[in-house]
Amino acid sequence: MKSVGIDAVEIWTGNLKLDLPGTFAEQMGDDPAKYTKGLGLNASSFPDSYEDIVTMGANAAHRLMERKGLEPDDIGRIDVATESAFDNSKPVSTYVAGCLEQVFEGDFHHANKGERKFACIAGTQSLDDAYNWIRAGRNRGRAALVIATDTALYARGDAGEATQGAGAVAMLISEDPDLVELSTEQGFGSADETDFLKPNQQFPSVDGKRSVQVYLARMREALVDYQREAGTITVDDFRYAPFHTPFPGMVRKAALLAYRHITRDTEIEDELAEDIGRQPREEAFDDEEAFHDAIREYMDALKGTDRYQEWYANTIEPTLTISREVGNWYTGSVHVARASALKHAAENDIDMAGEALLVGSYGSGAQAEIHTEVVQENWHEEIEALNVDDQLEARYDINWEDYEEIHDAHNHEMDVDIEPLTTPEGEFVFDGWGRMGERK
Ligand code: HMG
Repeated sequence: MKSVGIDAVEIWTGNLKLDLPGTFAEQMGDDPAKYTKGLGLNASSFPDSYEDIVTMGANAAHRLMERKGLEPDDIGRIDVATESAFDNSKPVSTYVAGCLEQVFEGDFHHANKGERKFACIAGTQSLDDAYNWIRAGRNRGRAALVIATDTALYARGDAGEATQGAGAVAMLISEDPDLVELSTEQGFGSADETDFLKPNQQFPSVDGKRSVQVYLARMREALVDYQREAGTITVDDFRYAPFHTPFPGMVRKAALLAYRHITRDTEIEDELAEDIGRQPREEAFDDEEAFHDAIREYMDALKGTDRYQEWYANTIEPTLTISREVGNWYTGSVHVARASALKHAAENDIDMAGEALLVGSYGSGAQAEIHTEVVQENWHEEIEALNVDDQLEARYDINWEDYEEIHDAHNHEMDVDIEPLTTPEGEFVFDGWGRMGERK
């Protein structure tokens, strides 16, 4: 069977930075620890006035194609995953292809282009589409370009405002990949939910607290479904677990849920049982509330064990490093978490070749997906090529007045035109609808 997966990845951040424990907390009159400790965020990446989903996606894809020495003829498929699309007919991938054709020899006239939508999980769904296309043998030896790009903005005053972000992840999907091979097995948890919606509106209507519960419920279902398909897994079967990260505090909750679920009926649970008891079984309770109280008590005790803390520090914490500095990138978020983990491994001389990742994707609306990935021999070279630290460092730190102006400039319902705060260098820029994606 063909080995198919992610051959290369590139990350492109919005060029501005909003300091959350500083500028944002001060303005809101909040304790900075709400952001750093509670949500787990230090900063948001923000788009300057010349940036949008097209420019960020095209910039990430351009870097990726240039680094891998690719021409348009090498690409048979371009899928953009986004929940910030501005066109209900023409897919964002056509705009991105238009940008790329300005700088590469040839064109994408024989590539299949599309756009995927299912909130944040659409990035992973686009990987699935590319995987299936290659596995089916329809790719004629060509690779697929998957771009997850979003300006994840909330209305001012919305509880989600602190979790905003803007950036893109471009991934090349191919046979015999250099970075990770994707598993055939997948697990899903999917249900019709209405806690996060954008019905013909730019900023989401969100029931934030409920969205957290829905994320956890779907993720648990996906884990159960994955184990039904792939067989029982243990926490030793994977080195990192990159999860969709709307903010690191969310993953803190999801990781505990995953750990509890995976260690159920295992030797680990037997060993833990001496200190914190066994997990409560639903069958033993007539009353649902009493069962949930017992679970909560078990989870609190589990969270405090050295064993869990050590696992969390080694398996989850490294996936959150980039996210802490950039906020939610919606479709790109879980792919940033993977890159963050592998970057941590590279920086700490951890040999990842042959090691597995447990990847948990999620999109509101709502659906979770679990699959595993096996890290490939050439992973190190691919991860070393990322320049994400330099990009984050180069962002322009905005003050509150800048923030209000730039937020208004990105509000499609306001007609606000402002001078950019940064100067684009060797990147595609949005320069009015007639001249989309011109490269400066
Ligand atoms: P909030 O209500 O402002 O915050 O917004 P909070 O009061 O719940 O506090 C957040 C955490 O900080 C809590 O921790 C507090 O205890 C803690 P927790 O109890 O949850 O562990 N905290 C402090 N910690 C230390 N020192 C302090 C302090 N103060 C508070 N002084 C909310 C939180 C999630 C509701 C908001 O950010 C929101 O609405 N976000 C947008 C929705 C969202 O991100 N939901 C996540 C799940 S849905 C999802 O992931 C999908 C999504 O990416 C979209 C898509 O798929 O398309 C959003």
